[in-house]
Amino acid sequence: MCGIVGVVGREPAAPFLLDGLRRLEYRGYDSAGIAVIAPNGTLHLHRAAGKLQNLVALVTGREPHGAVGIGHTRWATHGRPSDENAHPHTDCTGRICVVHNGIIENFATLRDQLQARGHTFRSETDTEVLAHLIEEELARLAACPPASLPVTAADGRQVEGDGGRLRVAVHEALLRVQGAYALAAISLDEPHLLVGAARHAPLVVGIGDDANYLASDIPALLPRTRLVIRLREGELVALDRDRVLLYDETGRAVERLPTYVEWDQSAAEKAGYPHFTLKEIHEQPEALRRALAGRLTDGRAYLAELDGLDLSRVTRVYLVGCGTSHYAGMVAKYAWEQWLRLPVECIIGSEMRYAPPPLDEHALVIAISQSGETADTRAAAEWAARAGARTLALTNVVGSSLTQTVEASVYLYVGPEIGVVSTKAFTGQLAVLYAMGLDLAARRGTLPPEQLQELAAALAAMPERVAACLARPEPVQRIAAACVNVDHLLFIGRGVGYPTALEGALKLKEVSYIHAEGYPAGELKHGPIALVEPGKLLIALATASATYDKVLSNLEEVKARGARVVAIATEGDTAIQRHADHVLYVPAAPELLSPIVNVVPMQLLAYYAAVERGCDVDQPRNLAKSVTVE
Ligand code: M6R
Repeated sequence: MCGIVGVVGREPAAPFLLDGLRRLEYRGYDSAGIAVIAPNGTLHLHRAAGKLQNLVALVTGREPHGAVGIGHTRWATHGRPSDENAHPHTDCTGRICVVHNGIIENFATLRDQLQARGHTFRSETDTEVLAHLIEEELARLAACPPASLPVTAADGRQVEGDGGRLRVAVHEALLRVQGAYALAAISLDEPHLLVGAARHAPLVVGIGDDANYLASDIPALLPRTRLVIRLREGELVALDRDRVLLYDETGRAVERLPTYVEWDQSAAEKAGYPHFTLKEIHEQPEALRRALAGRLTDGRAYLAELDGLDLSRVTRVYLVGCGTSHYAGMVAKYAWEQWLRLPVECIIGSEMRYAPPPLDEHALVIAISQSGETADTRAAAEWAARAGARTLALTNVVGSSLTQTVEASVYLYVGPEIGVVSTKAFTGQLAVLYAMGLDLAARRGTLPPEQLQELAAALAAMPERVAACLARPEPVQRIAAACVNVDHLLFIGRGVGYPTALEGALKLKEVSYIHAEGYPAGELKHGPIALVEPGKLLIALATASATYDKVLSNLEEVKARGARVVAIATEGDTAIQRHADHVLYVPAAPELLSPIVNVVPMQLLAYYAAVERGCDVDQPRNLAKSVTVE
């Protein structure tokens, strides 16, 4: 949600800023802007509502020449998407310029106070208070002797280090702010300086040759550098083109070595596919291999990350997440309760946050989040940690905020997911959750060794099965074409087929805007069957399972009422053809593991239906890749 870029170097800043914003488009946004300090010491500010091309059109032909600048893609929270509300925002003097991601929760109070002190606001955003707060702090610091930092803060504390007055002013301003932020600030009075800060929102420093950078995510930095430092909670950073100075939330200078980004640019680009989403769907076999690499050896599942967790007193497990990550948890519940003989509860992040279950050291709370930045999931994990539960993160993003909240982190290693809708992260989450479940079952001695081996072998075979599903997209494409004018679809399944149906429905509605709902097939008669009338389309998970016959009965019930049925069924099952109008075959898999393959035709269906309907597949309307606000 929102994207930040910043640069301080020798070359013109604008090309990096615009390219960086393009690489962050996947985060979701509705306006964009850049600000560059020109060599003559003036500020060039360009902002445009709508897509990035509007900003590019505005800037083309009058590119600012300065080498220091910041840029932003805004996903509106306070104030509608408009040129005026687009970032960057400036203070009353027009000399301080800020971009921000997150929500300033006490902004209304701060704005009233600032207005009472004579500040004039030009936007409806919460962000603008930051520019005015920094303006006040800089005015106060102006009384200090030139270049004599450390300086004394308002309350008499000594604020350590150099990094310029702007860094000190940002630090002091943020002490008055409640909420979440990642921000970047520049000032005409220190035109060689770029300052960043982060709390509950991601910000990454890129260390280049003769230039240093800030960005919300690594893809924006990759064309320039692979050496990065992720800001931790409450940290600030001051950059000039030669130095990167880090400070903790108390203003104390901290040292941290950069890490080297292993994955290359092509992993963050489309590699010949028309959309990131399709590329990521097709990457799943390889992504699954990476997710399972080193975790299934000698016929057993083993995750070294679990070694550091004391699970001896754990008697129940909570899987917390939002959206697709929540559905991955729901699938895992079915497997884990059988394998671990422990009660497993799945809770949506935003629900757990305000209605937490009673937690103590007997609970293991696993926060599932592709991005590791989802505000609700992180808040739930923080609460669990405070309550004394064992806490673990399952995420794709190394060093993300969530990993700083929990005791241990397990990574997906599926590579960057750029498309806004989750595809390879979902199957990666399932694969790692299965491996984790088998490892925990081995540690607890709740499954016999032969069954552990059998399941580990079946899990190891999943990447090939997914590849086989992807090899035959044509039947799905035909069904997608038939969906173009459909306005509502039901997805049904039993057991693990139920959360798989939920994920299929979520995928379809997210990218194609066709209304879709997932239901446990046994629930049809309790209400949703009222929607069934001649011609209605229904997608059924009908692969081999203990409840296969029950699903067939459900299909008969809807067919009797004229519904058209698309069944996802196991290869070789010809009997299903009597119960369905169309069959999408998938390779055989053990029932509990089957969601990894069964979801693939549903991902393809959502993708092709969206393309047929002319939707923006990679950036569906109103959606953001990381939901960093409540
Ligand atoms: O990054 P996270 O896994 O925490 O994100 C959670 C949800 O916001 C995410 O899964 C969302 O539902 C996607 N749009 C699903 O495609």
